[in-house]
Amino acid sequence: MWTINAQERIPEVEALLRKMTLEEKIGQLNLLTPGGGVATGEVVSKNVEAKIKAGQVGGLFGVAGPDKVRVAQELAVKESRLGIPLLIGSDVIHGYKTTYPIPLGLSASWDMDLMKQAAQMAAREATADGINWNFSPMVDISRDPRWGRIAETAGEDPYLGSKTAEAMVKGYQGSDLAAAHTLLACVKHFALYGAAEAGRDYHSVDMSKIKMFNQYLPPYKAAVDAGAASVMTSFNDIDGVPATGNKWLLTDLLRKRWGFDGFVVSDYTSLNEMIAHGLGDLQAVSTLALKAGLDMDMVGEGFLTTLKKSFDEGKVTEAEITDACRRVLEAKYISGLFDDPYRYLDSKRPEKDILTKENRALARKLAAHSFVLLKNHNDMLPLGNKGKIALIGPLADSRENMLGTWAPTGDFNLAVTVLEGFKNVASEANIQYAKGSNISNDPEFAKKVNVFGPRIEVEERSPEALLKEALDLAKTSDVVVTVVGEATEMSGEAASRTDISIPDSQKKLIRALVDTGKPVVLVLMSGRPLTIPEEFELPVAILQVWHPGVEAGNAIADVVFGDYNPSGKLTATWPRNVGQIPIYHSAKNTGRPAPENEEFQKFKSNYLDSPNSPLLPFGYGLSYTTFEYSNLRLNKETIGQGESISVTVTIANTGDYDGEEVVQLYLRDVVRSITPPKRELKGFQKILLKKGERKEVTITLFPDDLKFYNSTLEFVSEPGEFEVFVGTDSDAQLSKTFTLK
Ligand code: BGC
Repeated sequence: MWTINAQERIPEVEALLRKMTLEEKIGQLNLLTPGGGVATGEVVSKNVEAKIKAGQVGGLFGVAGPDKVRVAQELAVKESRLGIPLLIGSDVIHGYKTTYPIPLGLSASWDMDLMKQAAQMAAREATADGINWNFSPMVDISRDPRWGRIAETAGEDPYLGSKTAEAMVKGYQGSDLAAAHTLLACVKHFALYGAAEAGRDYHSVDMSKIKMFNQYLPPYKAAVDAGAASVMTSFNDIDGVPATGNKWLLTDLLRKRWGFDGFVVSDYTSLNEMIAHGLGDLQAVSTLALKAGLDMDMVGEGFLTTLKKSFDEGKVTEAEITDACRRVLEAKYISGLFDDPYRYLDSKRPEKDILTKENRALARKLAAHSFVLLKNHNDMLPLGNKGKIALIGPLADSRENMLGTWAPTGDFNLAVTVLEGFKNVASEANIQYAKGSNISNDPEFAKKVNVFGPRIEVEERSPEALLKEALDLAKTSDVVVTVVGEATEMSGEAASRTDISIPDSQKKLIRALVDTGKPVVLVLMSGRPLTIPEEFELPVAILQVWHPGVEAGNAIADVVFGDYNPSGKLTATWPRNVGQIPIYHSAKNTGRPAPENEEFQKFKSNYLDSPNSPLLPFGYGLSYTTFEYSNLRLNKETIGQGESISVTVTIANTGDYDGEEVVQLYLRDVVRSITPPKRELKGFQKILLKKGERKEVTITLFPDDLKFYNSTLEFVSEPGEFEVFVGTDSDAQLSKTFTLK
């Protein structure tokens, strides 16, 4: 684990630093991509080979495969003056080649052990391909489903987000960063990127410190506490200074207050983008960033091209450059690269470790665990393996939309379509397919989505002809399963939407299928919460499957046909309409709360045209079975500061299937010195209950669970009453109170 003590530096690194010229130190602060990967900015690095030889490169990304990485590593080791090996980065966001569900989906499993296994698998595959540094986990909190990158997050909640961050960091890094199957984690995007104004990507963030500390910063801190080796800055500004040049953020908070001792890298050209933010020319923003605590400049070459000049002009000191360089070198040392620069370059490993049967089996399991059953009209699901099933919809036989956004290392050609999965799993049933509609009929919209190749294909056949074919099939079938929603690139980076409903072409299809009178199951794919108030009212079953990854079709069939009973729970609230955004379960009360029954009242905090409540609350998700909660009790009525309290509840499986349930605990701090949220998630446990089984579940509230950051940003708990709620989602009704002395 990452345990550099600032007082006891690494002698090998110090010795190397003494040999380095100022230019060589600056070279280590430069991260380049030779192209080939996804370029998310306008710049792609040039003359990379020559720069490596000249000692002007600290790391690369977008290069993979032991043989290719070896070429780059040899240039650095054999042809640069000091032979310093390169960090080799990559965006392994949800699996390397064995792509598993998008992070928002994975978080819906609420299963930290599974998440850790997912990260371990990703690390094993990526390191087999020569990668030693991962630009993950993304731990940004998002309460705005218009923002496309909510797909990459664990949703809206700081407590769940912190647990997820910890599980991912530990999964990637293991207990020994020099081991051949572990890699450096990079926590991103520091900070508050998920709070971009109006859900528009890269937009400004302006937030009080109280909100930051209580709601948005905890997952970053949890990742740092778990030993994350590096941190990536975010594109947005904070208190008027972009994160990449924000000294309060990178030095005062991250290093001094949290004790982070790893290195900080910018996001893709986020250093240069400070020019557009209005903070000066490249030299000025590079100086600002170095002094703020940025160690490595991704792609922008602002450090490379201006720091020497700034040093000559007395604007930066050699000590500042040395500090940044030291942190980059320490990461290389801890990765074992000084010991053996070729340690991740075993050409036999890819075949042995990547896309193995075991890995694909895990991806299938992860996907099934990420699905959330939103509705099950007439207990329509699970379906039997029999009869004629009409599988309809633009995503039902689409390979290119299965992986989800930010899967640059995956290959959608390897993905299992829903049609294939159904045929694999329900071999006794007669499964027939029709497309039914385009994902969208709008060619202009399709063009914007299709940046990485065709994800939305607007057919030459007319929408009427597509629909007719589907309806003809539906009418002669026993049941209809329609796979609808978002194409992969309708969410993700720079894929914000102001309308997050199902596109009209597909809405029409759904409506027409329901009108046939056949039972209809909606399999809903998306990278974000959608607004589906009309579809939710229909007499249908709805299974939310996000973008499930390489085993998509098999996993969906596993759940639809009942081989796995769905257990996922939403980690971001589903609004009724975009006007409710931001909407999240841990909102505060107002001085004029709306009535509980949501009847409109003048001069109360409500809307003329919508209830306050969401369509589906945080934590929501059904099962094929039913669970009953009873007998909530606490082991104490009063506790002192520093004491824990146990909360116990009885849960019975009262339905017809074995099933898993996520038992959720919410806490309300009734009175305190700053306005408390109405309730906050403070514990959960995922349990398996056999049909007819009953279990006692105990969740302990530790002293820190009662604490919050007060107006002077101290982490404190204040005496008074606390109310505990336990149940199946954030509307949990069983409650008890206790007092903190
Ligand atoms: C994204 C990062 C990513 C980086 C490198 C940026 O556009 O914001 O999340 O790690 O590109 O690919």
